[in-house]
Amino acid sequence: MQDQRDAEILPVRQNQVLPPPLRASAIRLHFCDVGPAIPVLQPSEYHDVVTCTYEWRGEFENSEITALHSDAFESRVDVANETNWRSLLAQHSLGWVTARVGDLLLGFVNVIWDGQTHAWIQDVMVNPVSRNLGIGSQLVATAAEFSREAGCEWLHVDFEERLGGFYFDACGFTPTTAGLIRLQ
Ligand SMILES: CC(C)(COP(=O)(O)OP(=O)(O)OC[C@H]1O[C@@H](n2cnc3c(N)ncnc32)[C@H](O)[C@@H]1OP(=O)(O)O)[C@@H](O)C(=O)NCCC(=O)NCCS
Repeated sequence: MQDQRDAEILPVRQNQVLPPPLRASAIRLHFCDVGPAIPVLQPSEYHDVVTCTYEWRGEFENSEITALHSDAFESRVDVANETNWRSLLAQHSLGWVTARVGDLLLGFVNVIWDGQTHAWIQDVMVNPVSRNLGIGSQLVATAAEFSREAGCEWLHVDFEERLGGFYFDACGFTPTTAGLIRLQ
């Protein structure tokens, strides 16, 4: 984990704004070798210079979600069967949350629901270059806030055991029993 954190150090100056929009996967953060004028920032300092904006039902392009999904889940993009996220979310979601630094989409979560009091989070994803900076847990907190505002009483999630630290400790979910049937 520490190695990953170290690799996420951004060579930015105090108050420097991030460069204009780039596809997330195009960004590679390097160990800083640009001389003493530009300090190497630790992740704890990152928030002081880079503001991440979380938006409920924020605008997005299909290609942005596709790229983020591919980067986050390390899956290949199948151009022929690319998901139409805009249509999918418009039809089936209570909402979603986007996390952006400038115009760059770094995180996303989809919130689906039963039309009444239950909402579920799906596809929580943060670009690998910006993990462990609090973006994932803030995405979930924003989803919870707006789901509550929409009248929902319960927010559900299911996940692999290895993500218990994220969902239980960082996001505040409590353990429950749940079941699953593989249909296809
Ligand atoms: C899971 C994920 C969304 C977390 O996003 P993130 O922005 O890195 O999360 P945060 O920075 O808010 O993490 C908060 C805490 O959760 C824990 N955590 C984060 N990712 C974790 C992981 N993959 N496994 C276990 N714990 C994790 C960390 O301990 C962290 O606490 P710390 O800052 O004190 O170390 C991100 O790793 C991701 O996109 N993974 C790939 C897609 C995925 O698996 N999504 C979940 C589908 S159910």
